[in-house]
Amino acid sequence: MAKTALVTGASRGIGRAIAVHLARGGFRVALHYGSNRTAAEETRALLEGGDHLLFAADLAQENGAAGLAEAVLREFDGRVDVLVHNAGLYLETALLQERSTEEWSATVRKMMQLNFLAGADLAHLLVPEMIQRRWGRIIQIASRSGIRGESRFSGYSASKAAQINFAKSLAVELAPHGIGCFAIAPGWVDTDMSAGPLAEHGDAIRAEIPVGRVASPEDIAQLVAWLATPAADYLTGNTIDVNGASSLG
Ligand SMILES: NC(=O)c1ccc[n+]([C@@H]2O[C@H](COP(=O)([O-])OP(=O)(O)OC[C@H]3O[C@@H](n4cnc5c(N)ncnc54)[C@H](OP(=O)(O)O)[C@@H]3O)[C@@H](O)[C@H]2O)c1
Repeated sequence: MAKTALVTGASRGIGRAIAVHLARGGFRVALHYGSNRTAAEETRALLEGGDHLLFAADLAQENGAAGLAEAVLREFDGRVDVLVHNAGLYLETALLQERSTEEWSATVRKMMQLNFLAGADLAHLLVPEMIQRRWGRIIQIASRSGIRGESRFSGYSASKAAQINFAKSLAVELAPHGIGCFAIAPGWVDTDMSAGPLAEHGDAIRAEIPVGRVASPEDIAQLVAWLATPAADYLTGNTIDVNGASSLG
């Protein structure tokens, strides 16, 4: 029986590439999307192998993760070996003093819910099965912002820091059960999310990256596919900086 993986936010960008690479690695993939079913169908058409299924859920809603986990466990015979929480929003919270309390608070809460809490709830709901099978993966697509912070994006940075520390804490708790937990911390990746800043400041952004380009979704996806193999068992607990050496020097 093929191993199975749930990828949130698989309709576009990094999530789509992750789904493609996991399918290539032999996984049966649960492709989660927020609202863009057509794009999710396009992702499915790119996947090797068969029987990959689509699941819609608004993970910015408190009950979104519970409905998603229930549907995936039902369709996948109670088995999810790998959870990749990738769905996310990058919203500017601006300087604290520039926004009304209501506006600032609503923006932060939306990102904490989608970027962090939904993935934490999914882990909570899927880990018992992984414990029974004595193997599994929880992989958080976080961000370099979650390590160093980001001016005007304090809410986003905080949600990404939460993902990173959640992965570290779970790694300690779940290692005795054979479950590896990782966070990936990319800088700029060429997707819809970064299209605006890259169009406006692309040359300046690339000039700060020693490798000379921003990451492609494949740079992230190939890493996830490898982390989803037993070869990465002993690496559990790591946050992997995928930044073309731009965090150094
Ligand atoms: N791009 C970058 O430069 C970059 C850098 C560092 C980290 N990251 C992180 O990488 C992850 C993927 O980013 P990306 O660049 O691939 O983003 P993207 O192209 O904007 O795709 C975002 C994905 O999240 C889903 N999503 C958005 N709102 C949702 C909601 N309310 N409920 C459920 N799903 C929702 C979207 O689904 P629908 O389209 O179906 O709505 C889509 O599949 C994010 O967590 C992001 O923070 C990105």
